[in-house]
Amino acid sequence: MPRTVYVNGEYLPETEARVSIFDRGFLFADGVYEVTSVLDGKLIDFDGHAARLQRSLGELQMANPTTREALLEIHRELVRRNDITDGLIYLQVTRGSDGDRDFVFPADDTPPTIVLFTQDKPGLADNPVARKGFKIISIEDQRWARRDIKTVQLLYPSMGKMMARAAGCDDAWMVEDGFVTEGTSNNAYIVTQDGTIVTRQLSNDILHGITRAAVLRFAREAQIRVEERPFTIEEAQAAREAFITSASAFVMPVVEIDGKPVSDGNVGKMATRIREIYLEEMRKAAV
Ligand code: PDD
Repeated sequence: MPRTVYVNGEYLPETEARVSIFDRGFLFADGVYEVTSVLDGKLIDFDGHAARLQRSLGELQMANPTTREALLEIHRELVRRNDITDGLIYLQVTRGSDGDRDFVFPADDTPPTIVLFTQDKPGLADNPVARKGFKIISIEDQRWARRDIKTVQLLYPSMGKMMARAAGCDDAWMVEDGFVTEGTSNNAYIVTQDGTIVTRQLSNDILHGITRAAVLRFAREAQIRVEERPFTIEEAQAAREAFITSASAFVMPVVEIDGKPVSDGNVGKMATRIREIYLEEMRKAAV
């Protein structure tokens, strides 16, 4: 069964959906995106993703083709039409096309392109990997300097995942000036020996994760100490625990960094607890 996808106001079978070859998303990676998870047919943290989309568009002087309400309706309609219980909704907005290739932005009245599609992931929240944990490698952060904008320029993160795979690992943490920025598609955390969660502070150096915001809120509510500051790979290797967060992986323990086990190399208690709290609270608040 082909999926039903959404393109510029229309619901279409995926085989009939079309975007221009001159689209700036295709030619210049001139577009932004969001990934929202679906659990039990409901959207997790929709408002967080809608707000970050608005911010990404604003930072790139791109028009928002929808409103929060219209976007919510499109997400829900795609969940319904594709009968998604657990999965992801991918959303992309680009600066559109004026029918040629030109570095200069097209006229302001050029309609943006908006595309949404679903990814069916049965049992997304019961991923057995969460009981095993991720092995990661560290790589140099070679991305541009505005990582706070969720653009579709994902070639380097994609190469990072391939480097991880070549090393027999699950993912990579990127390092700049000696400190971890974030994972290829997730935010990075350690838990110090005294039980403090440490994660890099928000700036243009990292994506302002929607899962990160929720996880830090729940951690503080549970009286867990949180420090927002940079950390090194060496500090992470000597930490009690490590983990990552993203809308698609939720909270995922990290058990090995550059070949060295974190503590005894087993999934940590804090990551497991934070994952449980996150999933429970976010399921309750899902829309
Ligand atoms: N990635 N950092 C980067 C570089 C990311 O690409 C992502 C998300 C995150 C986590 O953000 P959030 O918690 O809002 O998902 C951090 C998505 C899931 C992706 O590219 O598929």
